[in-house]
Amino acid sequence: MESKQNYQLDRERIPQHVAIVMDGNGRWAKKRGLPRLAGHNAGMEALKEIVKRSDVLGVKYLTVYAFSTENWKRPVEEVSGIFKLLIVYMKKELDELHANNVKVKIFGDYSRLPKESIDALETALEKTKNNTGLTFNIALNYGGRDEIMRAVRRLAAECCDGQLTAEQLTEDMVSDRLYTGGIPDPEVVIRTSGELRLSNFLLWQSAYSEFVFTDVLWPDFSPEEYERCIAEFQGRKRRYGGV
Ligand code: FPP
Repeated sequence: MESKQNYQLDRERIPQHVAIVMDGNGRWAKKRGLPRLAGHNAGMEALKEIVKRSDVLGVKYLTVYAFSTENWKRPVEEVSGIFKLLIVYMKKELDELHANNVKVKIFGDYSRLPKESIDALETALEKTKNNTGLTFNIALNYGGRDEIMRAVRRLAAECCDGQLTAEQLTEDMVSDRLYTGGIPDPEVVIRTSGELRLSNFLLWQSAYSEFVFTDVLWPDFSPEEYERCIAEFQGRKRRYGGV
């Protein structure tokens, strides 16, 4: 393992797009004898600080995995608790996000969420849609395979309509039809809590991303640890299959 101390953040080489798998809320709560939702609540507090620090550092796109297509398998109280937290987060943070010129976007089919959560999300999307600062992408009911399948279905429909032939299909056409259409791939994907998996997050977009794993549980993921992860990324040599 690389030493934790040896990283110095270079503020001139901040990645444009950082993606984060926010993992470990449940274990954080368990360690304290608290219900899992207390972990998600603490995770929400951590997220606020990471969004702020992303903006200060000059990250252009921050994408966080808040709820996966697989997370519906969790107990119903936990699922509805996460959606309630989302409303709390949006109500508390929207004015400040907007004042900081942050643009909120949602990756995933959020139409399955409870009405009140959808309303809170749509208010945020509408209010911030013309902002030009940090783009804050929240992956909700998101799955990488599901996202690729949506793109494939759309392209197949365009082929069936006669607008395109199979031979004309390109990688760019797939990229354009993902939630990330028009934005650069993440240079770095960070996952907290010591788990070493991608878990169906940004499968297409992370083809050449660097992965940074930290043992820190998401609620304890501080802006300082975030900077350390970015500095660790900066220490990597990216070759994109070349030499
Ligand atoms: C992973 O921890 C976390 C989640 C699945 C939910 C993420 C939610 C938040 C960060 C807070 C809510 C904020 C918003 C914007 C919705 P886990 O429960 O998988 O932890 P474990 O692996 O330790 O059980």
